[in-house]
Amino acid sequence: MGSKKQKFLDLIKIQRNNKTAEKFDGTFLDYLAVVEKNPGLVKSGHKRLYDVIVGHGVNPLEDEERKRKIFGNDTFDIYSYFEGEFFGMERVIAKTMRFLRSASLRGEESRQVLLLMGPVGAGKSAMVEHIKAALEQDVYYHLKNDPQRGEPLQLIPRSLRPKFEKILNVKIEGDLSPVARQILLDDYEGIYEDFPVVESTFSQRGRRGIASVPPMDANSQDVSVLIGSEDISKLDKYSDDDPRILSLNGAFNVGNRGIVELVEVFKNEIEFLHTIITATQEKRIPSPGKHDMIHFDGVILAHCNESEWNKFRSEHTNEAILDRIVKINVPYVLELDQEIKIYEKQLGRSDFVAHIAPHTLRVASMFSVLSRLHHTQKCDLLTKMKIYNGEEVIEKGRVKNIDIKDLREESRYEGMSGISTRFIMKAIDNALADSKKAYITPVSVISALTRQVQEQLIDEEFRQHCLEIIQKMVREEYLRMLENEIAKAFVTAYEEQAQTLFNSYLDNAEAHTTHQRLKDKITSEEREPDERFMRAIEEQIGITGSSRDGFRSDVTAYMFAKMRRREKVDFRSYEPLKEAIENYLIASVKDMARIVTKSISRDDDQQKKYSEMVQTMIDEYGYTAESAEEVLTFASNNLWRDS
Ligand SMILES: Nc1ncnc2c1ncn2[C@@H]1O[C@H](COP(=O)(O)OP(=O)(O)OP(=O)(O)O)[C@@H](O)[C@H]1O
Ligand SMILES: [Mg+2]
Repeated sequence: MGSKKQKFLDLIKIQRNNKTAEKFDGTFLDYLAVVEKNPGLVKSGHKRLYDVIVGHGVNPLEDEERKRKIFGNDTFDIYSYFEGEFFGMERVIAKTMRFLRSASLRGEESRQVLLLMGPVGAGKSAMVEHIKAALEQDVYYHLKNDPQRGEPLQLIPRSLRPKFEKILNVKIEGDLSPVARQILLDDYEGIYEDFPVVESTFSQRGRRGIASVPPMDANSQDVSVLIGSEDISKLDKYSDDDPRILSLNGAFNVGNRGIVELVEVFKNEIEFLHTIITATQEKRIPSPGKHDMIHFDGVILAHCNESEWNKFRSEHTNEAILDRIVKINVPYVLELDQEIKIYEKQLGRSDFVAHIAPHTLRVASMFSVLSRLHHTQKCDLLTKMKIYNGEEVIEKGRVKNIDIKDLREESRYEGMSGISTRFIMKAIDNALADSKKAYITPVSVISALTRQVQEQLIDEEFRQHCLEIIQKMVREEYLRMLENEIAKAFVTAYEEQAQTLFNSYLDNAEAHTTHQRLKDKITSEEREPDERFMRAIEEQIGITGSSRDGFRSDVTAYMFAKMRRREKVDFRSYEPLKEAIENYLIASVKDMARIVTKSISRDDDQQKKYSEMVQTMIDEYGYTAESAEEVLTFASNNLWRDS
């Protein structure tokens, strides 16, 4: 028992010592020496935030393929601080950082509010939390016992500042808070070099440099939440213009030099927001009572959703505030692979221990992404989703040629509506809770999503649209994926077989295109290209009749161009051919799959084949026996009907 207690005590002590170890505690004169050595310590709130985030690393987007396919070769930076936390939000992050950068250079943005606007569950709050957490890794020096925790250099009288700025190579902005001024006069008789300076960390819970203002209803909102108040109990001791009666504990006092967050900002009454105008434009906030305005320097971060924004914007009396806002849209993710990562992250962090069968999160994410897409004349929604995900879509033997940029241009507002991340998370939870099973599969998620759409979506048109997405697009696409997977599980040495087919097709197509005969590599015997074989592959992707010649010469030209560039060539190299080969293999096992997956009709041989296949699904694809069983039952009820 005793040693246990000692262990705890040791832990506590180590932490406490680390905390207090190197903290600065001295006079203003000592502080000047520190600044002289390290002028970079003196910086605006914007610059400080920008620096800590950038300090984690900035890199150009490395994934060349994603850059080309998704971002149309736009170049922008990837900030490591957000990696692994936020997915598919590169543009939003780049815009936010651009804002901070120009604000840190004291541009007009340093006098503006940054507003993140987007639909529910798009990650606005999470983003702001993460930004605030960045600041919590930093420290700052400030005047001791000053509720505003002002920059100590503000002690220097205006007339002396140019000299100090030159010596120290810094910029000195703003003035002492009335409380600090009072301390200076009362305790140090104006001898400001003796004023104590301390070092602090930023902490939202500790109310140091980070403040968050929740929305308040009209009755309870009180501007003291923003700017502090007068302590009435002290009024009998001091006169009402004495700073000692001030409680500077409002958000703008606390958040000075750091961040003030305005949660769901436009839920507040407009009068409440007027403080923002002076805080941004003049970098000063009103003081409670009769005092002069107080200097404020910090990042003002607000967020809201679209309807609140539209309502606010429509009232012309709000122009003064609107003019001081830099709005960044935070749309939902439209890139499937990134959407999947959101749920992987969320599930990874929850107590969720269930087995998640392959494709489950993909299927759920397909639904949310599809629900967010706008219709286009250029293609169907599923194709659009794939193009947004950087996939190549094959149509009539060719890669469908639609420019992702054109699609985006067409519907600039895409991603601002649709199914939210929370909706999907709830469905995943429900799929598990309802079935009381220790696993979820695409099948159970599809049914949980369907139920949730029926129960929770109020808008009739949107509900119908969502049901159609689940039942038609998502379900059918999943069946295609499943069919493919089952075929792979049936075909022994799938990769090799596919590769053999590919090599053979390429040889034949080349010979056909160049009007030559094929030479057998071993016997050196010559023969005509195998027309039947080529056709059997081609018809898998609907290439028939006169389009065959074109396809064969396209494939040949494409592959040889690749080889000339010394690029690796395999059966996946040319998307149309890959699809044809896969379909060919799928078709070759179709009959067997149909019979074997039906449990009633299995004989001993088939039972053995079935068990082998299930084993492959478990060993190689990551199913469990139960989840494999569930999807195979689904497959046998829904696939291979026509033949
Ligand atoms: N692109 C994304 N990358 C990573 N996580 C995300 C992303 N989008 C949403 N999330 C996650 O989804 C959850 C909900 O997001 P959050 O609460 O931040 O949404 P919000 O935009 O503030 O919504 P609301 O308007 O309802 O307040 C969070 O856990 C967040 O981490
Ligand atoms: Mg939120």
